[in-house]
Amino acid sequence: MTQTEDDVAAVYDAAADLYADMFPSTGPEQPVDLAMVAHFCSLLAAQGPDGPDVLDAGCGAGRMLPVLAAAGCRAVGADLSAEMVRRARQDHPGFETRVGSLTALPYRDGTFDGVLSWYSTIHTPDEHLGAALAGIRRVLRPGGYVLVAFQAGEGSRDVAAGLRRLGLDVVLVRHHRTPERMADALRDNGFEEVARLVRAPVPPESDDQAVLVARRT
Ligand SMILES: C[S@@+](CC[C@H](N)C(=O)[O-])C[C@H]1O[C@@H](n2cnc3c(N)ncnc32)[C@H](O)[C@@H]1O
Repeated sequence: MTQTEDDVAAVYDAAADLYADMFPSTGPEQPVDLAMVAHFCSLLAAQGPDGPDVLDAGCGAGRMLPVLAAAGCRAVGADLSAEMVRRARQDHPGFETRVGSLTALPYRDGTFDGVLSWYSTIHTPDEHLGAALAGIRRVLRPGGYVLVAFQAGEGSRDVAAGLRRLGLDVVLVRHHRTPERMADALRDNGFEEVARLVRAPVPPESDDQAVLVARRT
C-alpha cells in the first residue's frame, strides 16, 4: 500500500482545518517527547549566540513552531500541503512558512542549524526515505542536527478511519519503521545518531513512539 506525495498533499489539503482544530497545540505529546525536542534545541544552542535557525520540516498547521521559539530557536516551517501552510499562517502568523517537500525544501543548502521532522516522514515509503533524509541534510549546516519523530513498528496501514467518520472520503497510508531502520537510514544519508527515545503508547495511541536525534556528519 503506497501513496504519492501528491496523494498525501491532497489528503492533508482536505483535512487541514479538521487537523488544525483537533491538534492546536502539543496537548497529545507526552512530557518525555517534548524533553527530546528540548534536548535537540539545547544541542543547537551551542552553535551560535543569536539563537539557532531551525526548520520545522512538515510543520503541518504549525503547532511546533511556538515550542521551538520558546526554546530560543529562530523557527520557520515548510509543508507539502498548501492548506496546512495556510492554517499555519493563520494560527501562527509570527512565523514564516513555505510550501515544499522534504525532498525539495524551498531553502538554500546549509541554511539551518537544526531540522525538526515531527511525524513528517510517516507517509514516506521506505524506498523514498533516503531521499527525504538527504533533502533534510542538504539544508543543514555542517554539524547541524535533525530530530525525527515517528510511530515505531513495521508495515503500512491506512490511518484515515477517523477522518472518514468526520465525513472526509480519504485514505491516508502511514508507514511504520523500527528505530533501528530509521537509525540505519540516517547513517546511510550522512548522519550520526546522538539520542534516541522509544516509549510505549499512551491511549489513544496504538503504537510505540520513537524520536531520534542525529548530527550531520
Ligand atoms: C502527521 S502530520 C504532522 C504535522 C506537524 N508536524 C504536527 O506535528 O502537527 C504530517 C505532516 O507532514 C506533511 N508531509 C508529509 N509528507 C511530507 C513531505 N514529503 N514533505 C513535506 N511535508 C510532508 C503533511 O502534509 C502533514 O502536514
